[in-house]
Order: sequence, then C-alpha cells, then structure tokens
Amino acid sequence: MILLKTATDLSFFLSAKKAQGLQTGFVPTMGALHEGHLRLVEHSKKNNNITVVSIFVNPTQFNDPQDFTRYPVTLENDIYLLEKTGCDILFLPSVPEIYPSGMQLTQPYDLGYLETLLEGKYRPGHFQGVCQVVHRLLELVQPANLYLGQKDYQQCMVIRQLIHLTALPVQLEIVPTKREPSGLAMSSRNLRLSENEKKAAAVIYQCLVTIQAGLKPGSLDSLVTEATAAILAAGFDKIDYVSIADAATLLPVTAWDGQSKLVALVAAFISGVRLIDNLTLN
Ligand code: PAF
Repeated sequence: MILLKTATDLSFFLSAKKAQGLQTGFVPTMGALHEGHLRLVEHSKKNNNITVVSIFVNPTQFNDPQDFTRYPVTLENDIYLLEKTGCDILFLPSVPEIYPSGMQLTQPYDLGYLETLLEGKYRPGHFQGVCQVVHRLLELVQPANLYLGQKDYQQCMVIRQLIHLTALPVQLEIVPTKREPSGLAMSSRNLRLSENEKKAAAVIYQCLVTIQAGLKPGSLDSLVTEATAAILAAGFDKIDYVSIADAATLLPVTAWDGQSKLVALVAAFISGVRLIDNLTLN
C-alpha cells in the first residue's frame, strides 16, 4: 500500500494510472476503521484496478465541536487493516491539503428538503460539510466508482444528489451495513462505548427488526411509539428520531398503503454517544 499525503502527489500518481487505462474505486472514510469499512474496500477491489481509501476527519461536517474533538483516531490500526485488506493507496491529507483556500463554503449545495429532515434537521450544516469534502475528494481521486455504507442512509442520498449537481462521472455503490453478532451496526463511534453500553445499544437493531415484523397497512404510530419506549428503557439518554419513511424520498410515512417501499431510521444517544441505524422494511 502506498501512503500519499498531498493532493499533488495523489493527482500525479492517479493520472499516470488513468493513462494506463486503469480504473479507480474510492472509499472515503474518517478513519477508526472497522469491518464495515473493510467490506467497502473489498467491494472496490472486486470491481476496480486500483482502490483508494482516504482517511480525513473532516471538521466542516461536525455540527457539534465536542463530537469532532472526541472522534476516535486509530491510525496505526487503520493502516494495518488496510494493508491486510489489500488497499492500494491510502490518502491521508491535512486540513490545508483539502481546504487550501480555507474551510468556508463559498456556494451551498442545493440539497432541497433532504437537508431539513432526520440527520439534516438534527445536525444543521452537516450535509453541506459532507458534500464539501466529498466533492473535493472526488475531484482529486476522479474515481469510476464510489463506495458508501448503507448505515448512513441519508448520506448516501445526499451524495447521490451531489453527483447529480456536479455531474461528476462516478457510479455510487451502496454496500449493506455490517453488524456485530448482536445486531449493533458497526460504527467508529462504537469505540467510545463500554462492552455493557454496546450490549444495550443492540436494542436499536432489535427495534428495527420488530418494526419490520410488525409492518402492516394502516397507521404506523404504535410501531414508532413502542420502538421509542424500548430504546429509552434499554438505557439510551435521548432519542433524536425513530422514523418510518419512504425508502426513495425519506419523507415520513405515518400510514402505510401496503405497497410503497419503506425504511425505518433511528438516531439516539447512549452515554453521550450518538448512534444511527436503519433498515429497509419491505
Ligand atoms: O461517512 C463518513 O465517514 C463521512 O461522512 C465521509 C463520507 C467520509 C465524508 O467525510
């Protein structure tokens, strides 16, 4: 694996590969890598000649400064895991490499209503920061394929909109969420939880599965109310949302017509750590 730290080195290296007709797959990350990330790398390796992974804890997407300073950093282990998985290039830029003219976003991305609900509502500005960094990274890496995890369901929709807005020639592949045996979705933030907290946090997945099992046409209110109560009873401090939404638009669905595709999404805090998860229901 080659480790590159500057935008110039990365562009130089990749343009030489492109000239040889080699295709690049790209996995953007913020580090603290787990099996979910490695699965993205494996998908990329299967379908591309070169796989680039970036590790960059992007300051502009953290609406909560404490979440930024507490974001886990495990670089040595990340490098070990990426080597083992067969990643070709690790891009490890500094803030000035990503934002040479400063972090201020000059032109906001038009994300429409997507920015006003769920993560957009509870993390104001978050998706603008995500678009800002992913846009910059896509311009640098110029991949044929981009790999994102389904755990960040709304982020995947936002990036699809970014690709549409920028007309960048990249295909987005969304890879299913990797889970612990308990069902807990793998997340870098799980590193901030004790073993007991992790056990308790599995309630989120249990609730998603319960919602799926209980789905029937008509009002969905009781499914949401029961899931909310179960998450709080398991020891979560606060819930941002438990929502059942249209899987294509993310608009909330309170009564199901028995046909439309649905997704259930949760964001909740346990011991001050914010976890998100989702499950497509039908
Ligand atoms: O999902 C993440 O880890 C981040 O939001 C991403 C896509 C790497 C952008 O910083």
